Amino acid sequence: MHLPNRLARIHTEEIGTHFLALAEEDRRLRFGRPMNDAALLAYVANIDFTRDAVFGVFDTDLLLMGVGHLARNAASAEIGLSVAAAGRGRGVGRSLLERAITHARACGMSMLYMHCLGENEPMRRLARRAHMSVVNDHGELQAHLELAPRTSGTHLADWVENSMGLAEHAFRVQMATSGYRPR
Ligand SMILES: CC(C)(COP(=O)(O)OP(=O)(O)OC[C@H]1O[C@@H](n2cnc3c(N)ncnc32)[C@H](O)[C@@H]1OP(=O)(O)O)[C@@H](O)C(=O)NCCC(=O)NCCS
Repeated sequence: MHLPNRLARIHTEEIGTHFLALAEEDRRLRFGRPMNDAALLAYVANIDFTRDAVFGVFDTDLLLMGVGHLARNAASAEIGLSVAAAGRGRGVGRSLLERAITHARACGMSMLYMHCLGENEPMRRLARRAHMSVVNDHGELQAHLELAPRTSGTHLADWVENSMGLAEHAFRVQMATSGYRPR
């Protein structure tokens, strides 16, 4: 399973390590422009963890393999995703996007945006699977999803997903500290 966990300021170093491990081309795909190490670390240092929501997926060695940054405005939010090269194609990107959609709705957001370069086929597939409207605008892929108004059920879904993520992470920590390695 790849259940995202909400990250906080204490995870800054791990988030930075995750971004620094992205190859040059992946950095360009993630941020829409070339990003050197200093620019990546400045980006991480400027994340507002109280306004935004950052979700992470950890592997069995408790290394951060995927990060979703849900940046919030007044009534809308934008999601940026990255998954470590070794962890791709296993649904991590999808679970981060789905977690972000649930959370954005629970926060009362009415629209979720996702921008990336038009050549980004995995993102195009992710957007379509999430029923986002996708437009290719001069080589850029602009996707958006209208979010239904929140209900008590929306809050419950957010709480359940959050709790499941915490439970899975606690289980992984337990396994890692006991030395257990799944085959
Ligand atoms: C985009 C990214 C986050 C996807 O992460 P992921 O964990 O591999 O995503 P998933 O495993 O959930 O796969 C998503 C979809 O892409 C498809 N996919 C995965 N790798 C692919 C590839 N190399 N080529 C084409 N499609 C691919 C999957 O089959 C899946 O489609 P499906 O649901 O129709 O089967 C990851 O590739 C990445 O970090 N890329 C670099 C940064 C980036 O581009 N960020 C996006 C800009 S915000």
